[in-house]
Amino acid sequence: MARKVIVAGNWKMNKTASEGVALVEALKPLVADVCECCAEVVVCPTFTTLSAVVEACKGSNVKVGAQNVHWAESGAFTGEISAAMLKEAGVEYVIIGHSERRQYFGETDATVNSRLKAAVAAGLKPIVCIGETLEEREGNKTEAVLGKQLEDGLKDLDSATVGAMVLAYEPVWAIGTGKTATPEMAQETHAFIRSKVAELFGKEAAENVRIQYGGSMKPENAEELVRQADIDGGLIGGAALKADSFAALVKNAIKGAGC
Ligand code: 13P
Repeated sequence: MARKVIVAGNWKMNKTASEGVALVEALKPLVADVCECCAEVVVCPTFTTLSAVVEACKGSNVKVGAQNVHWAESGAFTGEISAAMLKEAGVEYVIIGHSERRQYFGETDATVNSRLKAAVAAGLKPIVCIGETLEEREGNKTEAVLGKQLEDGLKDLDSATVGAMVLAYEPVWAIGTGKTATPEMAQETHAFIRSKVAELFGKEAAENVRIQYGGSMKPENAEELVRQADIDGGLIGGAALKADSFAALVKNAIKGAGC
């Protein structure tokens, strides 16, 4: 079955509100002809930039996501943000468990799971990130690591929820390094992820869940990556910070999907 392509720009800690608005104002006309029937285009700014970008994206086909969400409804959690706050700001998607959160801020599969449940309960659409380090890949541990991230990160979710969500496979060694997994290598891992989802949540969830690739994805390699059977789009860092490269990447990803 055809899964809709989803290309999301993770701006990380880049772009003030005015810079973010300028970026989406430049992006909107460049992706205006992207049919929502075959691809979704998402931008994920920092918290302080969200509202202005949501406003700027109104009436366009560019959707907005946040980069994190806390599991509690409210309370003494300095520096965190709740799902209700994101919903009220008009946010649709939320990235959970990015490797930078895991690496620098102590995020674990358990906290990913808590954040994920809060996001789903609030009606936010999660983009859950998983991925192995270079050491893990070289030690032949990729499948064990990804399997555990899926088992623990998606724990207690029902099949329909998993089928409706987005996973992002981001090999940590490919993030911001210019080293992309080859399309064949990425496909092999995506196929494993889908088979693990089938084992945990059933065939239908596995067929429906969209799996993005992330890690040095650029306009030049997007088509070939998305041409792979189990790669349904991308989660983009560096190449999403400029409207022209992000738009070119989106168009090439769509070409790869044959849409
Ligand atoms: P780069 O595209 O800069 O490698 O970043 C990927 C990423 O981490 C997206 O979440």
